[in-house]
Amino acid sequence: MKPYTKLRLCINWRAGDVLPSCGQNGSRGLIDPLEKGLAAGTSDLELETVHCMGKCHIGPILQLIPQGPMLFGVQENDIDTILDLLEKGRYEDLANRFAEPSTTKKAEVS
Ligand code: FES
Repeated sequence: MKPYTKLRLCINWRAGDVLPSCGQNGSRGLIDPLEKGLAAGTSDLELETVHCMGKCHIGPILQLIPQGPMLFGVQENDIDTILDLLEKGRYEDLANRFAEPSTTKKAEVS
């Protein structure tokens, strides 16, 4: 049984452009490539969009649901890497690669 059922994406846009947010940092541009990539794969994850997960200044934020790791600072050119790691079930590598920037530097994933 796969441990996660959803991939949650924050698409919030806080106070126009005044406050940092996932939306301001490009999260809405991730919806289409994530939906297409998940539909084409075998991870059985459903994309869920939400408004804020409390880490607005280091978004865009993704999180595996239920109770999975959060992925920080995801950009469109990261989508292929994310989908590949999801397909392979390499959740720990995914968490390390997109770790919270204040605590861990992004690790290279081969
Ligand atoms: S705006 Fe995305 S976590 Fe708050």
